[in-house]
Amino acid sequence: MSSRIPLTYTKKVLELFRNPKNLGRIENADAEALAGSLACGDMIAIYLKIDESSERILDAKFESYGCAANIATASSLTEMIKGKTLKEAWEVSWKDVSNELGGLPFVKYHCGILAVGALRRAIRAYYTNKSKPNWIPQELTPEEKHAMEEEKLLEILAKKTQRMATS
Ligand code: FES
Repeated sequence: MSSRIPLTYTKKVLELFRNPKNLGRIENADAEALAGSLACGDMIAIYLKIDESSERILDAKFESYGCAANIATASSLTEMIKGKTLKEAWEVSWKDVSNELGGLPFVKYHCGILAVGALRRAIRAYYTNKSKPNWIPQELTPEEKHAMEEEKLLEILAKKTQRMATS
């Protein structure tokens, strides 16, 4: 018999895991980011359609290769940011999303942080060839640092695997 204790997810997390909203890709997205978590090796992609003049998010979608908590968080986050300006979306914290879901188990906090980090990476990427507004900090936020780029993540995971194989 397994000695693992099942995680206690809220009803909302389970509902969004089974029937996620905004799942999929936006072709010709105005901003997108792929991000991975070093904590678990999972990945997420965020796509945004943006009205250029008002900087309002017209549509938001995601693809998740993560766990139930990540799928539910990304689903909830994309719902929350639709209709918001990029600045308002930037200000949504992983705690806001977690509250929206009725809370996440402690060991799953990083899954929510990954979703918010991916969103901030997408917003930052949107301004790559534009003048960057002053509400985007020069330094990466902790959420963005947590959400690593795919190449960097794979590099670190490969090094870890190599170290484990030789020890
Ligand atoms: Fe990896 Fe949740 S355990 S995203």
